[in-house]
Amino acid sequence: MRQIWLNGELLPESEARVSVYDDALMFGSMVFEMLRTFNLRPFKLREHLERLRASAEMTGLSLPYTLDELEYAHDQLLEANRPTVGPTDELRTLINVSRGTLPIYHRIVPKGAWAMMMAFPLRWVLEGTSSWYDTGVDGFIPVQRTIPAQLMDPKIKHRSRLYLKLAALEAKKPSDWPILLDPDGFLAESTGANVFLVKKGRVYTPEPRNCLRGISRQYVMDLLARQSRPAVEKNLEPYDLHEAEEAFFACTPYSILPCVSLNGRLIGEGKPGPVTKGLMQHWSQNVGCDFVKQAKGWDHAGRT
Ligand SMILES: Cc1ncc(COP(=O)(O)O)c(C=O)c1O
Repeated sequence: MRQIWLNGELLPESEARVSVYDDALMFGSMVFEMLRTFNLRPFKLREHLERLRASAEMTGLSLPYTLDELEYAHDQLLEANRPTVGPTDELRTLINVSRGTLPIYHRIVPKGAWAMMMAFPLRWVLEGTSSWYDTGVDGFIPVQRTIPAQLMDPKIKHRSRLYLKLAALEAKKPSDWPILLDPDGFLAESTGANVFLVKKGRVYTPEPRNCLRGISRQYVMDLLARQSRPAVEKNLEPYDLHEAEEAFFACTPYSILPCVSLNGRLIGEGKPGPVTKGLMQHWSQNVGCDFVKQAKGWDHAGRT
Protein backbone atom coordinates (compact mmCIF):
# COMPACT_ATOMS: atom_id res chain seq x y z
CA MET A 1 0.00 0.00 0.00
CA ARG A 2 1.24 3.50 -0.82
CA GLN A 3 2.55 5.51 2.11
CA ILE A 4 2.01 9.20 2.74
CA TRP A 5 4.47 11.27 4.74
CA LEU A 6 2.51 13.61 6.97
CA ASN A 7 4.24 15.84 9.51
CA GLY A 8 7.11 13.49 10.14
CA GLU A 9 5.16 10.23 10.03
CA LEU A 10 4.67 7.67 7.28
CA LEU A 11 1.05 6.55 7.13
CA PRO A 12 -0.89 4.21 4.85
CA GLU A 13 -2.61 6.26 2.12
CA SER A 14 -6.06 5.43 3.51
CA GLU A 15 -5.15 6.87 6.91
CA ALA A 16 -3.57 10.19 5.90
CA ARG A 17 -6.01 13.03 6.64
CA VAL A 18 -6.14 16.81 6.60
CA SER A 19 -8.96 18.88 8.06
CA VAL A 20 -11.95 20.06 6.03
CA TYR A 21 -11.39 23.41 7.81
CA ASP A 22 -7.88 23.78 6.44
CA ASP A 23 -6.74 27.02 4.84
CA ALA A 24 -5.71 25.00 1.78
CA LEU A 25 -9.35 24.15 1.17
CA MET A 26 -10.88 27.40 2.39
CA PHE A 27 -8.56 29.79 0.51
CA GLY A 28 -6.56 27.62 -1.88
CA SER A 29 -3.80 28.91 0.35
CA MET A 30 -1.18 26.20 0.00
CA VAL A 31 2.26 26.07 -1.55
CA PHE A 32 3.50 22.93 -3.22
CA GLU A 33 6.00 21.16 -5.42
CA MET A 34 5.75 18.28 -7.83
CA LEU A 35 8.73 16.16 -8.77
CA ARG A 36 9.51 13.08 -10.76
CA THR A 37 12.16 10.41 -10.53
CA PHE A 38 14.46 9.11 -13.24
CA ASN A 39 15.45 5.50 -12.56
CA LEU A 40 13.55 5.96 -9.29
CA ARG A 41 15.93 8.68 -8.10
CA PRO A 42 14.49 12.17 -7.55
CA PHE A 43 15.33 14.81 -10.12
CA LYS A 44 16.40 18.26 -8.84
CA LEU A 45 15.00 17.67 -5.35
CA ARG A 46 17.03 20.48 -3.76
CA GLU A 47 15.94 22.97 -6.44
CA HIS A 48 12.29 22.04 -5.84
CA LEU A 49 12.75 22.43 -2.08
CA GLU A 50 14.40 25.80 -2.53
CA ARG A 51 11.47 26.96 -4.66
CA LEU A 52 9.11 25.61 -1.98
CA ARG A 53 10.91 27.67 0.64
CA ALA A 54 10.68 30.78 -1.53
CA SER A 55 6.95 30.17 -2.14
CA ALA A 56 6.40 29.76 1.59
CA GLU A 57 8.36 32.90 2.45
CA MET A 58 6.53 34.94 -0.20
CA THR A 59 3.19 33.91 1.30
CA GLY A 60 4.12 34.49 4.93
CA LEU A 61 4.04 30.79 5.72
CA SER A 62 6.83 29.50 7.88
CA LEU A 63 7.94 26.09 6.69
CA PRO A 64 7.51 23.63 9.56
CA TYR A 65 10.68 21.76 8.51
CA THR A 66 14.15 22.67 7.31
CA LEU A 67 15.13 21.80 3.75
CA ASP A 68 17.46 19.09 5.07
CA GLU A 69 14.60 17.57 7.02
CA LEU A 70 12.35 17.70 3.98
CA GLU A 71 15.05 16.13 1.84
CA TYR A 72 15.40 13.31 4.34
CA ALA A 73 11.60 12.91 4.49
CA HIS A 74 11.46 12.74 0.69
CA ASP A 75 14.08 9.96 0.73
CA GLN A 76 11.98 8.08 3.28
CA LEU A 77 8.88 8.58 1.14
CA LEU A 78 10.61 7.16 -1.93
CA GLU A 79 11.98 4.23 -0.02
CA ALA A 80 8.56 3.41 1.41
CA ASN A 81 6.84 3.66 -1.96
CA ARG A 82 9.38 2.00 -4.29
CA PRO A 83 7.87 -1.42 -3.58
CA THR A 84 4.47 -0.13 -4.82
CA VAL A 85 5.70 0.29 -8.40
CA GLY A 86 7.30 -1.97 -10.99
CA PRO A 87 10.98 -1.84 -11.99
CA THR A 88 10.25 0.15 -15.17
CA ASP A 89 8.09 2.71 -13.36
CA GLU A 90 8.91 6.11 -11.97
CA LEU A 91 7.39 7.95 -9.05
CA ARG A 92 5.66 11.29 -9.11
CA THR A 93 5.93 13.02 -5.78
CA LEU A 94 3.99 15.94 -4.39
CA ILE A 95 4.96 18.12 -1.46
CA ASN A 96 2.18 20.22 0.01
CA VAL A 97 2.53 22.79 2.78
CA SER A 98 -0.34 24.66 4.41
CA ARG A 99 -0.50 27.19 7.22
CA GLY A 100 -3.24 25.07 8.83
CA THR A 101 -6.57 26.44 9.94
CA LEU A 102 -7.93 29.91 10.59
CA PRO A 103 -8.16 30.90 14.29
CA ILE A 104 -11.96 30.45 14.32
CA TYR A 105 -11.46 26.74 13.71
CA HIS A 106 -8.78 26.21 16.33
CA ARG A 107 -11.45 25.00 18.75
CA ILE A 108 -11.93 22.03 16.35
CA VAL A 109 -8.51 21.57 14.80
CA PRO A 110 -5.16 22.27 16.46
CA LYS A 111 -3.41 25.28 14.92
CA GLY A 112 -0.16 25.12 13.03
CA ALA A 113 1.35 24.59 9.61
CA TRP A 114 1.67 21.11 8.20
CA ALA A 115 3.62 19.44 5.44
CA MET A 116 2.65 16.37 3.49
CA MET A 117 4.32 14.33 0.77
CA MET A 118 2.85 11.68 -1.43
CA ALA A 119 4.11 9.47 -4.24
CA PHE A 120 2.31 7.63 -7.00
CA PRO A 121 3.29 6.14 -10.37
CA LEU A 122 4.25 8.78 -12.91
CA ARG A 123 2.54 6.72 -15.57
CA TRP A 124 -0.81 7.75 -14.12
CA VAL A 125 -0.03 11.15 -15.62
CA LEU A 126 1.57 10.08 -18.91
CA GLU A 127 -0.36 6.93 -19.77
CA GLY A 128 -1.93 7.10 -23.24
CA THR A 129 -0.07 10.26 -24.24
CA SER A 130 3.39 9.03 -25.28
CA SER A 131 2.54 9.60 -28.97
CA TRP A 132 2.66 13.33 -28.20
CA TYR A 133 6.45 13.06 -28.10
CA ASP A 134 6.30 12.13 -31.82
CA THR A 135 3.30 14.13 -33.00
CA GLY A 136 3.66 17.14 -30.69
CA VAL A 137 0.74 18.89 -28.99
CA ASP A 138 -1.35 21.81 -30.26
CA GLY A 139 -0.87 25.16 -28.59
CA PHE A 140 -3.75 27.63 -28.35
CA ILE A 141 -4.19 31.05 -26.83
CA PRO A 142 -7.05 30.85 -24.32
CA VAL A 143 -9.38 33.75 -23.54
CA GLN A 144 -8.34 33.37 -19.89
CA ARG A 145 -5.22 35.45 -19.21
CA THR A 146 -2.61 34.86 -16.60
CA ILE A 147 -2.59 36.82 -13.35
CA PRO A 148 0.36 39.20 -13.58
CA ALA A 149 3.14 39.38 -11.02
CA GLN A 150 1.99 42.76 -9.72
CA LEU A 151 -1.34 41.19 -8.65
CA MET A 152 -0.20 37.75 -7.52
CA ASP A 153 3.26 36.53 -8.29
CA PRO A 154 3.24 33.39 -10.46
CA LYS A 155 6.76 32.59 -9.27
CA ILE A 156 5.03 31.37 -6.11
CA LYS A 157 3.94 27.80 -6.70
CA HIS A 158 0.58 27.92 -4.98
CA ARG A 159 -2.79 26.22 -5.15
CA SER A 160 -4.88 29.30 -5.97
CA ARG A 161 -4.97 27.96 -9.52
CA LEU A 162 -8.49 28.66 -10.72
CA TYR A 163 -7.26 30.88 -13.57
CA LEU A 164 -5.08 28.00 -14.81
CA LYS A 165 -7.99 25.57 -14.51
CA LEU A 166 -10.25 27.88 -16.52
CA ALA A 167 -7.62 28.17 -19.25
CA ALA A 168 -7.25 24.37 -19.35
CA LEU A 169 -11.03 23.98 -19.64
CA GLU A 170 -10.95 25.94 -22.91
CA ALA A 171 -9.12 23.01 -24.57
CA LYS A 172 -11.24 21.09 -27.07
CA LYS A 173 -9.17 17.91 -26.89
CA PRO A 174 -6.50 16.50 -24.52
CA SER A 175 -3.63 17.44 -26.85
CA ASP A 176 -4.66 21.13 -26.85
CA TRP A 177 -2.25 22.95 -24.55
CA PRO A 178 -3.13 26.52 -23.57
CA ILE A 179 -0.50 29.25 -23.71
CA LEU A 180 -1.75 32.05 -21.49
CA LEU A 181 -0.97 35.65 -22.30
CA ASP A 182 -0.14 38.24 -19.70
CA PRO A 183 -2.17 41.48 -19.54
CA ASP A 184 0.21 43.10 -22.08
CA GLY A 185 -0.39 40.32 -24.59
CA PHE A 186 2.98 38.63 -24.14
CA LEU A 187 3.28 34.85 -23.89
CA ALA A 188 3.40 33.75 -20.26
CA GLU A 189 3.17 29.97 -19.82
CA SER A 190 0.90 26.97 -20.10
CA THR A 191 -1.16 25.66 -17.19
CA GLY A 192 1.63 23.36 -16.01
CA ALA A 193 4.54 24.04 -18.33
CA ASN A 194 6.86 26.76 -19.61
CA VAL A 195 7.12 27.52 -23.30
CA PHE A 196 10.07 27.84 -25.68
CA LEU A 197 10.31 28.69 -29.37
CA VAL A 198 13.08 28.46 -31.95
CA LYS A 199 13.37 31.24 -34.48
CA LYS A 200 16.19 31.54 -37.03
CA GLY A 201 18.06 28.91 -35.00
CA ARG A 202 17.90 30.84 -31.71
CA VAL A 203 15.92 29.58 -28.75
CA TYR A 204 13.63 32.03 -26.93
CA THR A 205 11.50 31.79 -23.83
CA PRO A 206 9.30 34.42 -22.15
CA GLU A 207 11.15 36.51 -19.62
CA PRO A 208 10.42 35.04 -16.21
CA ARG A 209 8.24 37.83 -14.85
CA ASN A 210 4.71 36.54 -15.35
CA CYS A 211 5.37 32.82 -15.23
CA LEU A 212 6.61 30.16 -12.88
CA ARG A 213 10.38 29.79 -12.98
CA GLY A 214 10.11 26.14 -13.91
CA ILE A 215 12.81 23.72 -12.81
CA SER A 216 12.53 22.09 -16.27
CA ARG A 217 12.75 25.52 -17.92
CA GLN A 218 16.02 26.11 -16.07
CA TYR A 219 17.30 22.67 -17.00
CA VAL A 220 16.54 23.30 -20.68
CA MET A 221 18.44 26.59 -20.40
CA ASP A 222 21.38 24.75 -18.79
CA LEU A 223 21.39 22.17 -21.60
CA LEU A 224 21.26 24.94 -24.21
CA ALA A 225 24.17 26.73 -22.53
CA ARG A 226 26.15 23.49 -22.69
CA GLN A 227 25.31 23.26 -26.39
CA SER A 228 26.71 26.82 -26.81
CA ARG A 229 23.23 27.92 -27.85
CA PRO A 230 22.13 30.06 -24.88
CA ALA A 231 18.41 30.71 -24.60
CA VAL A 232 17.17 34.28 -24.86
CA GLU A 233 14.60 35.42 -22.29
CA LYS A 234 12.43 38.18 -23.74
CA ASN A 235 8.89 39.40 -24.19
CA LEU A 236 7.36 37.24 -26.90
CA GLU A 237 4.08 37.66 -28.74
CA PRO A 238 1.80 35.06 -30.38
CA TYR A 239 3.23 36.47 -33.63
CA ASP A 240 6.68 35.17 -32.64
CA LEU A 241 5.24 31.72 -32.12
CA HIS A 242 3.59 31.83 -35.56
CA GLU A 243 6.93 32.82 -37.06
CA ALA A 244 8.87 30.14 -35.20
CA GLU A 245 10.44 27.08 -36.80
CA GLU A 246 9.86 25.01 -33.67
CA ALA A 247 8.26 25.28 -30.27
CA PHE A 248 8.12 23.10 -27.20
CA PHE A 249 6.94 22.93 -23.62
CA ALA A 250 9.12 22.12 -20.60
CA CYS A 251 7.59 20.61 -17.48
CA THR A 252 8.37 18.01 -14.84
CA PRO A 253 6.20 15.06 -15.93
CA TYR A 254 7.08 15.20 -19.66
CA SER A 255 10.46 16.98 -19.44
CA ILE A 256 10.13 18.30 -23.01
CA LEU A 257 7.09 18.06 -25.27
CA PRO A 258 7.04 19.45 -28.83
CA CYS A 259 4.33 21.98 -29.71
CA VAL A 260 3.51 21.82 -33.42
CA SER A 261 0.71 24.32 -33.97
CA LEU A 262 -0.80 27.49 -32.61
CA ASN A 263 -4.52 28.15 -32.87
CA GLY A 264 -4.78 25.55 -35.64
CA ARG A 265 -1.90 26.89 -37.75
CA LEU A 266 1.25 24.83 -38.06
CA ILE A 267 4.44 26.00 -36.39
CA GLY A 268 7.31 25.42 -38.85
CA GLU A 269 6.73 22.11 -40.58
CA GLY A 270 4.18 21.05 -37.97
CA LYS A 271 6.38 18.35 -36.48
CA PRO A 272 9.03 18.13 -33.77
CA GLY A 273 12.13 19.95 -35.01
CA PRO A 274 15.85 19.18 -34.67
CA VAL A 275 16.51 21.55 -31.76
CA THR A 276 13.63 20.09 -29.75
CA LYS A 277 14.60 16.52 -30.55
CA GLY A 278 18.25 17.27 -29.74
CA LEU A 279 17.27 18.63 -26.33
CA MET A 280 15.11 15.57 -25.62
CA GLN A 281 18.07 13.33 -26.41
CA HIS A 282 20.52 15.45 -24.44
CA TRP A 283 18.22 15.41 -21.38
CA SER A 284 17.69 11.63 -21.64
CA GLN A 285 21.44 11.00 -21.89
CA ASN A 286 22.17 13.21 -18.89
CA VAL A 287 19.69 11.49 -16.61
CA GLY A 288 20.45 7.98 -17.94
CA CYS A 289 16.85 7.38 -18.88
CA ASP A 290 15.20 7.57 -22.30
CA PHE A 291 11.99 9.19 -21.04
CA VAL A 292 10.26 8.92 -24.42
CA LYS A 293 10.87 5.19 -24.71
CA GLN A 294 9.88 4.79 -21.08
CA ALA A 295 6.57 6.62 -21.58
CA LYS A 296 5.84 4.43 -24.62
CA GLY A 297 6.20 1.37 -22.41
CA TRP A 298 3.53 2.73 -20.06
CA ASP A 299 0.85 3.24 -22.70
CA HIS A 300 -0.44 -0.30 -22.55
CA ALA A 301 0.23 -0.97 -18.89
CA GLY A 302 -2.70 -1.15 -16.49
CA ARG A 303 -3.16 1.10 -13.48
CA THR A 304 -2.10 0.00 -10.03
C1 LIG B 1 2.00 27.16 -14.05
C2 LIG B 1 3.20 26.28 -14.26
N1 LIG B 1 4.15 26.67 -15.11
C3 LIG B 1 5.25 25.91 -15.33
C4 LIG B 1 5.42 24.69 -14.70
C5 LIG B 1 6.65 23.86 -14.97
O1 LIG B 1 7.45 23.86 -13.83
P1 LIG B 1 8.45 22.66 -13.50
O2 LIG B 1 9.37 22.55 -14.65
O3 LIG B 1 9.13 23.10 -12.26
O4 LIG B 1 7.63 21.45 -13.33
C6 LIG B 1 4.44 24.26 -13.79
C7 LIG B 1 4.60 22.97 -13.11
O5 LIG B 1 3.71 22.44 -12.51
C8 LIG B 1 3.32 25.07 -13.56
O6 LIG B 1 2.36 24.70 -12.69
